[in-house]
Amino acid sequence: MSTAPLPAGPESSPGPHHVAIIMDGNGRWAKARGLPRVAGHRRGADAVRRVIRGAGELGIPVLTLFAFSTENWTRPADEVSDLMGLLRHYLRNELEELGRNGARLRVIGDRTRLAPDIVKDISDAEQRTRSNTRIDVNICINYGSRDEIVQATRSLARKAAAGEVVPEKIDENLFERELLTAGVPDPDLLIRTSGEQRISNFLLWQCAYAELVFVDTLWPDFGKEHLERAIAEFRRRERRYGGVGS
Ligand code: FPP
Repeated sequence: MSTAPLPAGPESSPGPHHVAIIMDGNGRWAKARGLPRVAGHRRGADAVRRVIRGAGELGIPVLTLFAFSTENWTRPADEVSDLMGLLRHYLRNELEELGRNGARLRVIGDRTRLAPDIVKDISDAEQRTRSNTRIDVNICINYGSRDEIVQATRSLARKAAAGEVVPEKIDENLFERELLTAGVPDPDLLIRTSGEQRISNFLLWQCAYAELVFVDTLWPDFGKEHLERAIAEFRRRERRYGGVGS
């Protein structure tokens, strides 16, 4: 398996240019070892570090990770609290590592339900990594795709009612500008770990043409070599975008 960096840029690279990952299997990883679920999430955070570094080394320009969904609030309160604690710890303590990887951090999701100190940590982390240029790392926290689409629709409806937008002029480009991912290119590869084969309300609009790769590895065991395998699978696929291909 090659470890040579992929040349950056859509023109020169076969891609993927944006890899999105549903990080699944932390709980099963812990259960298999007789450990509490939080131990799986902690090892999951280690995998986040490995994969960001690996993606940078492989020349992937954009990486998006699903860390906490709008549905995850329904988990037991102590697990939610553990996850929030891990995210807080990550945002406060990973900035140097992100800097070493040239990673610019952006958090995608509805911040209104997050604790004020986490919202501040997010702003600080985004601010302090904003000049990094090797890889854009988006972490989705309190993110749900349907909610995002509803919010975007509401915003356009408000603008139309205020006479700021002409309904007939609403097209895909205008709509995309209302999404939380405004300015982020669509993922061309979506990976889900742990053997589950679902999209689970993640980037539904944005993944319209993404190649889906499902891997059996549990997230805490995932690393650069698994990422490379998923990329190799992506490159074997013929992408036709609704056409007939070559
Ligand atoms: C899914 O596994 C994973 C999550 C809901 C949380 C993901 C969080 C991390 C990887 C750690 C923290 C993240 C960062 C960015 C520091 P699951 O709990 O649903 O596993 P299961 O399906 O095996 O129960």
